[in-house]
Amino acid sequence: MEYRKLGRTGLDVSRLCLGCMTYGESARGNHAWTLDEASSRPLILKALDAGINFLDTANVYSDGTSEEFVGRVLKDYGQRDRIVLATKVHGRMHVGPNGMGLSRKAIMAEIDHSLRRLGTDYVDLYQIHRWDPTTPIEETMEALHDVVKAGKARYIGASSMYAWQFAKAQHVAERHGWTRFVSMQNHYNLLYREEEREMMPLCQDMGVAVIPWSPLARGRLTRAWDEATERTRTDAFGKTLYKVPDADRRVVEAVATVAERRGVPKAQVALAWMLSKPFVTAPIIGASKPDHLDDAVAALSLQLSTEEIAALEEHYVPHAVAGH
Ligand SMILES: NC(=O)c1ccc[n+]([C@@H]2O[C@H](COP(=O)([O-])OP(=O)(O)OC[C@H]3O[C@@H](n4cnc5c(N)ncnc54)[C@H](OP(=O)(O)O)[C@@H]3O)[C@@H](O)[C@H]2O)c1
Repeated sequence: MEYRKLGRTGLDVSRLCLGCMTYGESARGNHAWTLDEASSRPLILKALDAGINFLDTANVYSDGTSEEFVGRVLKDYGQRDRIVLATKVHGRMHVGPNGMGLSRKAIMAEIDHSLRRLGTDYVDLYQIHRWDPTTPIEETMEALHDVVKAGKARYIGASSMYAWQFAKAQHVAERHGWTRFVSMQNHYNLLYREEEREMMPLCQDMGVAVIPWSPLARGRLTRAWDEATERTRTDAFGKTLYKVPDADRRVVEAVATVAERRGVPKAQVALAWMLSKPFVTAPIIGASKPDHLDDAVAALSLQLSTEEIAALEEHYVPHAVAGH
């Protein structure tokens, strides 16, 4: 396994982050395709055995059960200080007023709920899952700073939003002497590269780590365009993301061509492309089978040529902003 500093922090993270949205009770929350605890556990342990020290989950994943699964595996694994544990806040956790968002009340309640479900007294990275247009950013940044100062989170990060919003949040934190975000978890893959316009250069300029979500476009980059799995059939959010079928299909075919020439699975090519980008610290991979982890690890040693990278990128056309 390779390790990188998370942005300008001193924190070492593996170059692959394990996305734990795949793990949780399918009857709870919005992801009907998730794996139950018995099927999730060996995958999380396999990732840890491969040297992946960086795990990402969220309060909202499968209504808190993703955090519970991860917490129980880590308790049995027993090496909490070796793990970089990331979770998120913003999604709806209960009906009615104050059931979601980034108010001081929501953040203070949700960090404690996450810590209880994760069975730990701190997370390494506490991320805002989205921008909350209904709460002043000053209120959010001060609450996050207080979470850090209370010892409940080591660092804070953000997820999908416009670059101007991220820049504003950092500016507010700096003006008040509050904790700044050290990472951006955004939507980025060969089918969705809009982040190259503003967010990636902004993060490079600020020394913020980029940890993209859905690096394989939720599986679309790993198989023929028309092939579906249980997940693609039931993944309601995924259906909102990739909306330019003609161009997207050509990109998927280009991945297949490079993969065939190399004699490796498509997933390795798509991840190797992402790892070739200097602004990417660690893609957050989804693994529903053991060989998904093997491919992700193998991608770390696959060096693509300039010509191969150009071939993978040439069919891309601008996409409407998706995933905010
Ligand atoms: N911040 C956010 O808003 C946000 C949004 C989305 C995700 N995330 C984070 O990002 C993580 C990853 O998201 P994701 O699961 O969508 O990532 P992904 O890596 O793009 O997709 C994972 C899916 O691709 C397929 N796959 C993976 N490796 C494969 C291989 N080697 N061969 C064939 N198929 C393969 C599997 O699909 P099948 O299961 O269908 O076979 C797997 O479920 C999540 O767990 C979560 O932590 C964050």
